Amino acid sequence: MAIPLEDFFEDIISKAQRGLGIETSVLVERTGLDREVIQGLRRGEFEVDTISKVAPVLGLDTQTLIASAEKSWFPIQPEVPGLHVFHSYYGDMIVNAYLMQLPEKNEAIVFDTGTDCTEILNYLRGSNIGLAAICVTHSHTDHISDLDALRTSMNNPPSYIHVKEPVHGATLIEEGWSLEAAGLRLSIQKTSGHSVAGITYLIEGMSSPIAVVGDAIFAGSMGGGMVSYAEALQNNREKILTLPDNTVLCPGHGPLTTVGQEKEHNPFYPEFKNR
Ligand SMILES: [Fe+2]
Repeated sequence: MAIPLEDFFEDIISKAQRGLGIETSVLVERTGLDREVIQGLRRGEFEVDTISKVAPVLGLDTQTLIASAEKSWFPIQPEVPGLHVFHSYYGDMIVNAYLMQLPEKNEAIVFDTGTDCTEILNYLRGSNIGLAAICVTHSHTDHISDLDALRTSMNNPPSYIHVKEPVHGATLIEEGWSLEAAGLRLSIQKTSGHSVAGITYLIEGMSSPIAVVGDAIFAGSMGGGMVSYAEALQNNREKILTLPDNTVLCPGHGPLTTVGQEKEHNPFYPEFKNR
């Protein structure tokens, strides 16, 4: 069963407000709403009329933000044979790690480790599959804390991370890098903004094109722009949402989604809405 969406409208509004550096007093002034109403929004209280006033000031799409508040949208989960998702916990957050393996191959590639690689190891050992590579999206603890454990338990396969986010033992890569392993072809895009140099891995060779995006974009939301909100938005617009619509997006938190569904349903990208 798919895990819940990572973010709802209160998180989306907070991320946009923080990202744009708009003080609540400014939001009050520009929307004509009371301060208490705005503060209520960030606690998850809403009326359609309130969201309609706030969304444009924050550069968000009104209709999909309302859908998020009403919890009326969930992405159709793409079926990709050989794509496995593993969940682990970081406090009360669920973190995703991915494993890809072609049916005829006895090797796999893993993307991030989460906080506990036990289930990944159980799968690999139980199916007698080798590990060709560990591809890391970014260096935040929740995504890499079992990197050493996975590596040393599986014959030290190469692991990869962006040169601007080095971690111990990993090979440092940048845009232009590519890899053929386990019957798959990988290339990368730098999708920084949430982190200094987050990587989106593009994978060819499965039944659909796949992008492992880390925390760059989530189903119906995006990672917080901790380094630069503007850069995160721009990278997602130019490097992820320009991929073919059937590209399966594998985010670091929340369920799977596709480029087509995010263009239509993600409130952070009003310009792709087909209305
Ligand atoms: Fe992160």
